[in-house]
Amino acid sequence: MNNILIEKINKKEAEICVIGLGYIGLPLSLSFANCGFKVLGIDIDKQKIENLNQQISYISDISNEDLKNTISNQKIEFTSDYHNITSCDAIIICVPTPLNKTKDPDISYIVAVAEEIAKYDISNKLISLESTVYPGATEEIILPILSQNSKFNVGKDFNVIFSPERIDPGQKNWDLKNTPKVIGGITKECGELGMNLYNCVSEKIVQVSSTRAAEMTKLLENTFRAANIGLINEMAILCQKLDLDIWEVIEAAKTKPYGYMPFYPGPGLGGHCIPVDPRYLEWKLETLNSESKYIKLSEEINFSMPQYVVDRAKEIISKNKLENKITIIGATYKKDVSDIRESPAIDIMQILHDEKIPFNYNDPYIHEIKLSNKTYYSESINNLNNNQILGIIVTDHSSYNWSELSENFKFIFDTRNALRNFNKQDVNIFKL
Ligand SMILES: NC(=O)c1ccc[n+]([C@@H]2O[C@H](COP(=O)([O-])OP(=O)(O)OC[C@H]3O[C@@H](n4cnc5c(N)ncnc54)[C@H](O)[C@@H]3O)[C@@H](O)[C@H]2O)c1
Repeated sequence: MNNILIEKINKKEAEICVIGLGYIGLPLSLSFANCGFKVLGIDIDKQKIENLNQQISYISDISNEDLKNTISNQKIEFTSDYHNITSCDAIIICVPTPLNKTKDPDISYIVAVAEEIAKYDISNKLISLESTVYPGATEEIILPILSQNSKFNVGKDFNVIFSPERIDPGQKNWDLKNTPKVIGGITKECGELGMNLYNCVSEKIVQVSSTRAAEMTKLLENTFRAANIGLINEMAILCQKLDLDIWEVIEAAKTKPYGYMPFYPGPGLGGHCIPVDPRYLEWKLETLNSESKYIKLSEEINFSMPQYVVDRAKEIISKNKLENKITIIGATYKKDVSDIRESPAIDIMQILHDEKIPFNYNDPYIHEIKLSNKTYYSESINNLNNNQILGIIVTDHSSYNWSELSENFKFIFDTRNALRNFNKQDVNIFKL
């Protein structure tokens, strides 16, 4: 059975369905279409489908031009209707896996998609889960739903793999093509089929022995990042106490050619991955009456950073007798993206809001932010006379002109070291 599917894939006659057209699914669906495959993109958000069909992109890494070119090749179709899934040979799931209110994994989106797929005949199909999950989830949660009470046998009637998404939105050097793709199949043959599928969109594929190993690979990568960011955030706080510049120390440390890898402190973790993924692993460990000390400690440090930023800001205001008002410069979770999910800027604003400290913000990508029933609108920095107001650089978008900014702000708390090459006598810069 796999041979027929492999041949279809190799001849690019296979049809591919991508479910969930967000930051991950949309670029992936365009990549497959640009490779020559016929692609069906499904999303339950009808507004997104309408935008896509009008060639309007909502993802900063995809331009309207990219979208237009792919659509004009007639290789891609966007819909909210699952019915056409029957003609697809491979189905790739890219829906969210966030945390719920109790900070436990919310796998309801992947379960809903698996239940939807299971309504159709999945024989001879390859199903790939790309959404980040805890070790065992593909096999324990998704597979039983797809098997439809053992009506279908995996590896015989249909194929299942887990292949974590590793792309980094806004990243210019590493994309889907040149970032190696990890694949783990429920069976070895499922994995090999997956290697054939992703061969066209990825230059290098790494096959691991199981879906569990692939799931854990993704969690190791992001836990490694979260733990190292926790360490360097703690070092930043310690350096401040020791009256040392952490940024200078990191620059010196990274000249060591081996045994050191630079991580940078910041106002807190953000995005859909680093603050969330370690918690998936932690939750799984809790079900085994176990725990990860590193995850707990780094969460404690990283999630306390927004409060640390506010406390430092209050100290700067008080020592310099500034107006009791703050301007937040940059609100997205990292530079040059339009994503505010889990952004530390939002946490900082919420603390300011709760502590009744007046503030405004500017972000070229985010025009309004709702906090506790109040809507804040992005204000033009240049229209404000902020000489006695502290500006906090939370997100260092490339489009910011720091020289212009310093015309308005004479007191800047720079949590990103954005002003590292900036030297102006009349501007007071406070580093993290
Ligand atoms: N964004 C990142 O940087 C990143 C990086 C690596 C991995 N991931 C992982 O990839 C997965 C997707 O993340 P994302 O950032 O693309 O999310 P996203 O929220 O941008 O997109 C998910 C899309 O799925 C759609 N959706 C939800 N339920 C659906 C359903 N039942 N049927 C069809 N569509 C449905 C939503 O409408 C949305 O458009 C997550 O598991 C995430 O952890 C994300």
